Amino acid sequence: MFEIGVVLYRQRDRGKRYGREAVELLTTWLFAAGGADRVQATTEAANTPMRILLEQLGFRLEGILRAFGTLSDGTRPDGALYAVVKPDWVDRPGVPTSS
Ligand SMILES: CC(C)(COP(=O)(O)OP(=O)(O)OC[C@H]1O[C@@H](n2cnc3c(N)ncnc32)[C@H](O)[C@@H]1OP(=O)(O)O)[C@@H](O)C(=O)NCCC(=O)NCCS
Repeated sequence: MFEIGVVLYRQRDRGKRYGREAVELLTTWLFAAGGADRVQATTEAANTPMRILLEQLGFRLEGILRAFGTLSDGTRPDGALYAVVKPDWVDRPGVPTSS
């Protein structure tokens, strides 16, 4: 089982789909060469860009993890657990078939 995450450190790099490209490339590699059958990603439930990105790529929401995170101010936000399995990734829309 593999858990992935991504951070674009510079604000100016965000919103240009670089994050989506990075997650797509890494997930493709994990299934094709890394031996993965399942790839999961957990993000803050309030992280709209990350959740949209994952859903656009075909990751499915598997649950809300209550009080999952720990922030420096002491608050504990909920998390959202997403995952995709190999057959769904290989057959996702927009991927050319190899034949
Ligand atoms: C989260 C992060 C990785 C996303 O990467 P990105 O390259 O900025 O993402 P994208 O450009 O593909 O944007 C994702 C989608 O969210 C949408 N979006 C962005 N902010 C939004 C908001 N506040 N409300 C609704 N939609 C929003 C974008 O429009 C985009 O959808 P589109 O492709 O249909 O236009 C990046 O912003 C980041 O590094 N943030 C800080 C660290 C972080 O939160 N990492 C995730 C930890 S698990």
